[in-house]
Amino acid sequence: MSDMNYPPTGPLSPATGVTVINDVRPYGEGDAVSVRIVDGVIEEIGPEVSAADAGHVVDGRGGVLLPGLVDMHVHLREPGREDTETIETGSTAAAKGGFTAVFTMANTMPVTDQPIIAESVWAKGQALGLCDVHPVGSITKGLEGKTLTEFGMMANSDAKVRMFSDDGKCVTDPLIMRRAIEYAGGLDVLVAQHAEDHRLTDGAVAHEGPTAARLGLRGWPRTAEESVVARDIMLARDYHARVHVCHATTAGTVDLLRLAKEQGITVTAEVTPHHLTLTDEKLETFDGNYRVNPPLREDTDAAALRQALIDGVIDVVATDHAPHGAEDKCIEFDQAKPGMLGLETSLAIIAELFVHTGLKDWRWVAQVMSERPAEITRLPGHGRPIAVGEPGNLTVVVDESWTVDRTELASKTENSPFDGESYATRVQATLLRGVPTWDADTAS
Ligand code: DOR
Ligand code: ZN
Repeated sequence: MSDMNYPPTGPLSPATGVTVINDVRPYGEGDAVSVRIVDGVIEEIGPEVSAADAGHVVDGRGGVLLPGLVDMHVHLREPGREDTETIETGSTAAAKGGFTAVFTMANTMPVTDQPIIAESVWAKGQALGLCDVHPVGSITKGLEGKTLTEFGMMANSDAKVRMFSDDGKCVTDPLIMRRAIEYAGGLDVLVAQHAEDHRLTDGAVAHEGPTAARLGLRGWPRTAEESVVARDIMLARDYHARVHVCHATTAGTVDLLRLAKEQGITVTAEVTPHHLTLTDEKLETFDGNYRVNPPLREDTDAAALRQALIDGVIDVVATDHAPHGAEDKCIEFDQAKPGMLGLETSLAIIAELFVHTGLKDWRWVAQVMSERPAEITRLPGHGRPIAVGEPGNLTVVVDESWTVDRTELASKTENSPFDGESYATRVQATLLRGVPTWDADTAS
């Protein structure tokens, strides 16, 4: 729906009170300023603002102020697998990672294929108040790929579902995908595809290439992704609706997206921090933490993905944060479940790859991690300019080195492929409608 009623009606009470952030540089530009937020809205930005009545004062330590980050693709596992993540632990990880809004995928148990499930996810997130948790509705009932769900009912529910995806599974049937796209176009909601031809990936656990061949692992060809991306681009062209490509992984997918965008086709795409940085060489360790769908590819793919993000051919960074317990990860590689944690490491990785190398600046990070995701999902209140009158959804990042310790992450599980890695940037504070949801200075 293009309905701008936001936040959706629900249990949320409006943010009240005063918060002041001191010593920050919006987008990393200009002199340090202070920001005063009253009742969830930025009231003043200047060299000095009044903090006498502030309930919270955040020390920005001369860091960079960004609009709160938005992640279009996470798995918070509630309902059904609360042993691996809950809306509470996932929202805490999101807040620590600088996110103020996340979209949690529909492959829960039960599947988020009806308004009541979507509404309960939304309400729980709002009651916690750590992050706006937007449920993604499934495209087909039970993720079975056969019968479309009621997009309209979910879009008009209290959860205001604005994205639909069978992520984890591909909508393989071209007629079902066509109907989904037509249906979505009428409601102006987004259809997000997990592009994988399951006939080509039957039993596959690794990228099909020299590494998998050497290790004796069943290979997942690039064609499995690219053939679906190509088909969906054609469907978006013919039925004039927006299609989003989840977790793009190959240089060939980048070529297809470039061609589609040149032709004005309304396709958007995301890339994960792990596909930007890691390659299938990691599989030499046989560590199940490197198993992910789609799989880690080769250097040439990762380089093409990085360039595509720089060029805007890929629109956004999304984590595909996918918690799995040790019983599903610390086992034989081909038995391990696919998926990696991502919420607490994403910003640091993007800063390292693009800002510290001088390739891009913080304003660009704001685009690919906040503004574009909010725009693509038609999400009001997030990804907004840092300016007076705008919502106080903000993230403070500082250049301070830290090392990932998977046992210290907020998630219930420890399946981070970045455990032990050191980064030069970390999230100092996150504010949701002016309320600090994370402040490194006061964290216990
Ligand atoms: O690696 C993945 N894990 N890819 C998916 O598509 C699903 C996800 C999950 O739910 O664990
Ligand atoms: Zn996913």
